[in-house]
Amino acid sequence: MDKSMYQDLQDQLLLTEDQIQKRVREMGAAITRDYKGQELVAVCILKGAVFFFVDLLRAIDLPVSLDFMAISSYGSSTKSSGVVRILKDLDKPVDGKNILIVEDIVDSGMTLSFLRKNLMTRGVASLRIATLLDKPERRRTPLHVDYSGFVVPDEFVVGYGLDYDERYRNLPEIGVLKPEIYEKA
Ligand code: IMP
Ligand code: MG
Repeated sequence: MDKSMYQDLQDQLLLTEDQIQKRVREMGAAITRDYKGQELVAVCILKGAVFFFVDLLRAIDLPVSLDFMAISSYGSSTKSSGVVRILKDLDKPVDGKNILIVEDIVDSGMTLSFLRKNLMTRGVASLRIATLLDKPERRRTPLHVDYSGFVVPDEFVVGYGLDYDERYRNLPEIGVLKPEIYEKA
């Protein structure tokens, strides 16, 4: 692992690899129980959710198909504006399907509330949200999250898929980025 990435993080990691993996397995078990006897379409929100998505799906014991969406929310790199644009839409129609949206972090809630509304117009049978991280302090719009891994403080976090300016996604842990990294940018 490239040690230089760790120098940009605060000394204390927020979540270790073990903590993350244990929690992701628990979430997979809960999803398996809740959807027993049903099929599921898991939708990965690119790119941040990729690491969480593959680990979570390996912990789910159900017939599950995969699809991907890419979304861009306008705004600066550490604050989202709530204006959302679909960069890549789902490959397959989702009418009559049980959809599980898999996201890395819910911050203001604007991205997922847009997505929920958008997918609901497509005649889905059910729609739930799984997020690895949740920053409830920053919520600007009410949003019900069905499966939440960890509540995190209002700080900018990176690793395990989460990026700053496309970096740090490949760290296996999650840490708080030193503010000087994005303040000087
Ligand atoms: P929301 O629309 O404000 O809920 O934005 C959620 C999106 O903002 C996430 O999918 C992330 O891409 C990004 N984001 C929010 N907080 C963080 C963070 O602490 N680190 C990295 N990305 C974040
Ligand atoms: Mg994201």
